[in-house]
Amino acid sequence: MPWLNDENRHWQEKAREVAERVIRPLAAEHDRKQEYPWKVRDALAEAGLFKVWIPKAYGGASEGSQNVLNLCLVVEQLSRACGGIGVLFAVNALGSFPLIVGGTEEQKKKYLPRVASGETLCAFCLSEKTAGSDAQALKVRGVADGDAWRIHGEKKWTTNGGAANLYTVFAVTDPEAKGKRISAFIVESGDAGFSIGKVEDKMGIRCVPVVETIFDGVKVGNDRLLGGKPGYGFKHAMETLDLARPGVASQAMGLAQGALELATVYTSKRSQFGATVNSFQMVQQILADMAMRTEASRQLIYAAAHAIDIGSPLVTKFSALSKCFATDMAMQVTTDAVQLFGGYGYMKDYPIEKYMRDAKITQIYEGTNQVQRLVIARNLIRESANFAFLREFIPTENQNLFDG
Ligand code: CAA
Repeated sequence: MPWLNDENRHWQEKAREVAERVIRPLAAEHDRKQEYPWKVRDALAEAGLFKVWIPKAYGGASEGSQNVLNLCLVVEQLSRACGGIGVLFAVNALGSFPLIVGGTEEQKKKYLPRVASGETLCAFCLSEKTAGSDAQALKVRGVADGDAWRIHGEKKWTTNGGAANLYTVFAVTDPEAKGKRISAFIVESGDAGFSIGKVEDKMGIRCVPVVETIFDGVKVGNDRLLGGKPGYGFKHAMETLDLARPGVASQAMGLAQGALELATVYTSKRSQFGATVNSFQMVQQILADMAMRTEASRQLIYAAAHAIDIGSPLVTKFSALSKCFATDMAMQVTTDAVQLFGGYGYMKDYPIEKYMRDAKITQIYEGTNQVQRLVIARNLIRESANFAFLREFIPTENQNLFDG
């Protein structure tokens, strides 16, 4: 990629090295066992990869307030070898971005250096059984208790739950309020009243745990209320997702790239009708379409991540565009890759079906692709005010539509 700088390439190469040395050889085993691969966490920490999105002032490697582009480059390389490891890594950004966007100086100083070293693993507790896409419909409550807070309720789909020691938890603190109903809290795994409930048995990303998390009157001081002020939880959740969604896009695009590479090799070895199958134009067309879609997603993700890092006002739209486009693309490309492997592609002896299983969740989590389209459309409608001057180019018989 010509415009990546030396630092970008440094992180890309480090991630690639860990992916090929440690992750790919164990991907099938991790998928089968469905256990958290601590050896991989150690290798990621040793390579310093948990530093990439964290500011230098808090033990990280980022010159700015975050570095979404470097995060994306790393997630892409890891996911190329194993999509599960891609999210096992990226979810630490999702869980610590709330601290970066909304934490007090003390909270950042206390927690971020441990995240950067890989010692503290993070999880993001927003979703509940009855609050998925409708993220404001939370039932988990944060109730004032003297100068502290008690958290009551259950969260669903906590990725990294059980492995993580830091949980950012979104809870309703003012149920009667019109806005500012929700606050975010920092919960540590050792806090009394915190426990892990059901451990999910998943279609894909099987090496990373997804669990229910239970908060049975967990008591936290005001120092664990994100930002030190109640009522900003929803805003911080949305700002976090804006930063994190390009990471899901990169997980998807890395999966597509990995599937394309495997399919390219397989079709150059497999022979039918006396020729390798990659000599058939129908196969070549599928390979070419896979490459075109993967590359288009890569360009969109890097551009979106770069725009976010330089403080574009269009962060929400760019983030949703990249997530939606790349994850729909990955589902198609990984499915095409299975098709190119034929009957063998459907079998677990071959590495390719896992790519398709791992890809599916990327269209669902961190906001379904229906929610992404909603976010994109809402932003487009808001931006349409900038093009009001175009009304004069629309025929006058439609004037009544504008007049209302
Ligand atoms: N940045 C800052 N503020 C934002 C914002 C953003 N991107 N988006 C919205 N807000 C603010 C609005 O300005 C508004 O503020 P005011 O009340 O002051 O006006 C407030 O938030 C409410 O905004 P909306 O009216 O737009 O909210 P909504 O209820 O209509 O919901 C939504 C919008 C986009 C559908 C949102 O609920 C959403 O993103 N849903 C999906 C949630 C999601 O992604 N969940 C996944 C959780 S993580 C996961 O998947 C698990 C894992 O571990 C990997």
